[in-house]
Amino acid sequence: MKFSFAKPSLASVLGKPGILAITVANDRSLGALGQELDQKTGGALTRAMAAARFSGKKDETLTLLAPAGVELERVVLIGVGKAEEITDLSLQSQGGTLFATLDKAGDEASLLVELPEGAALDGAAAAVEIAFGARLRSYKFDKYKTNDKKAEKKEPKPALDRLTLLVEGADEAKKAYGPRDKVADAIFFARDLVSEPANVIYPESLADKTKELESVGVEVEILEPKKLRKLGMGALLGVAQGSANEARVVVLRYNGNGDGEDQRPLAFIGKGVTFDTGGISIKGAAGMEDMKWDMGGSATVVGTLYALAARKAKVNAVGIIGLVENMPSGTAQRPGDIVTSMSGQTIEVINTDAEGRLVLADCLWYAQDVFKPKLMIDLATLTGAIIVALGHEHAGLFANNDELAQNLTAAGLKVGQPLWRLPMNDAYDKEIESPAADMKNVGSGGGAGSIVGAQFLKRFVNDVPWAHIDIAGVAWAKKDSATVPKGASAFGVRLLDRFVAEFHEA
Ligand code: BES
Ligand code: MN
Ligand code: ZN
Repeated sequence: MKFSFAKPSLASVLGKPGILAITVANDRSLGALGQELDQKTGGALTRAMAAARFSGKKDETLTLLAPAGVELERVVLIGVGKAEEITDLSLQSQGGTLFATLDKAGDEASLLVELPEGAALDGAAAAVEIAFGARLRSYKFDKYKTNDKKAEKKEPKPALDRLTLLVEGADEAKKAYGPRDKVADAIFFARDLVSEPANVIYPESLADKTKELESVGVEVEILEPKKLRKLGMGALLGVAQGSANEARVVVLRYNGNGDGEDQRPLAFIGKGVTFDTGGISIKGAAGMEDMKWDMGGSATVVGTLYALAARKAKVNAVGIIGLVENMPSGTAQRPGDIVTSMSGQTIEVINTDAEGRLVLADCLWYAQDVFKPKLMIDLATLTGAIIVALGHEHAGLFANNDELAQNLTAAGLKVGQPLWRLPMNDAYDKEIESPAADMKNVGSGGGAGSIVGAQFLKRFVNDVPWAHIDIAGVAWAKKDSATVPKGASAFGVRLLDRFVAEFHEA
């Protein structure tokens, strides 16, 4: 999907067939050029809005086909609401909705951006947000639909791949859109990783894929099983041992703040279980296919490093992803096995399906030990219990540091990826005391499964500010929303990119 930005004028679009979209504010209020278009069509816009009871409220759309007086095939109206309702998020949402409306109408279209008096953004800034929203919605994962592709060759169907935004300050808009497009590339990269099935994306192949980040300036180091054994990552390796696909840990480094005073990096750590059968504590068959996205945390970390590097953020960051496949087999670990983590702490594995925390335990320890980071943030599809608590509307947030929790929460709200903080304390920690080892990997039946999971992780964190984001409820969208089509969401890439931009760029 390509975007261009040009001076607003009707002359450039009216004389030929095509699709023109225009913004309409609340109470059917049209901008100057919108009114001119209405006149040229003999008032067709005004009549159609009245007939369809279209008022111009947020995200409302209306399509007019072949209006008289102009050559246009379609005029599409998109509501932006009241001036005071207009924000970057609302405009992204309208961009997404517009994409969905235009997608099957044609290969290209123009959008006239005219905002009402009193809006907080100027036209150029608004156009950037609309384009970003449209780009995010345009994601498709259809590479395995070979029959559709064959049919397409015989009888091509339109699919929107070019949008021209007609706006005052087009040059400015074009410049400001550049970095946004790169963040969108990063999000698409992460969505692809999550969408691929587990026979295509497994630890080795996912690790290899991350090599593509070298092209944007990320250093990629792949740790193989021999090295992981040498490091003593017994918790992570215990999970991997049931699978014919061997474990990998990938270390991604981006140094965008080379001459800054404080060189310590921010560390992002991701759960990358490329498929979670549960292991010997095997899951039921229903819905098990969903467990291909149990590497969503690692995809978000990869996407975040990609975004930071591609837009040349002034920050030092490392990404550490633990890649394993959790399978039952003759070599799989058993309930009751005791493993020794890289930290030296021993873990009694009561339930082999609580594997994400075992993987993260060693990755957190490695991050802290090797990089002495300024802070650590891990992302994981860790618990089904977080879906019980928060559904699909918020990701769960856990932290040992209030400022970090507040900053992450603020960043999440600004990009439409909200977090909700849950409590942690010693009483929950008692749940994982084990009679046989330093701890066990599940609670004793006291409920609060997501908190207990977080308490487990906390045992692998020393004095560094740390946050854990449980994305089990948000990594995969069960339905379309304005800027996230059904499927892999890459939840967290936008959030962490914003968190860095707002709180950690030099
Ligand atoms: N990957 C799952 C969590 C999950 C569930 C992610 C649903 C996405 C959707 C995780 O490894 C898991 O199996 N957790 C167990 C933990 C339990 C054994 C303490 C769970 O949630 O049931
Ligand atoms: Mn599991
Ligand atoms: Zn899992």
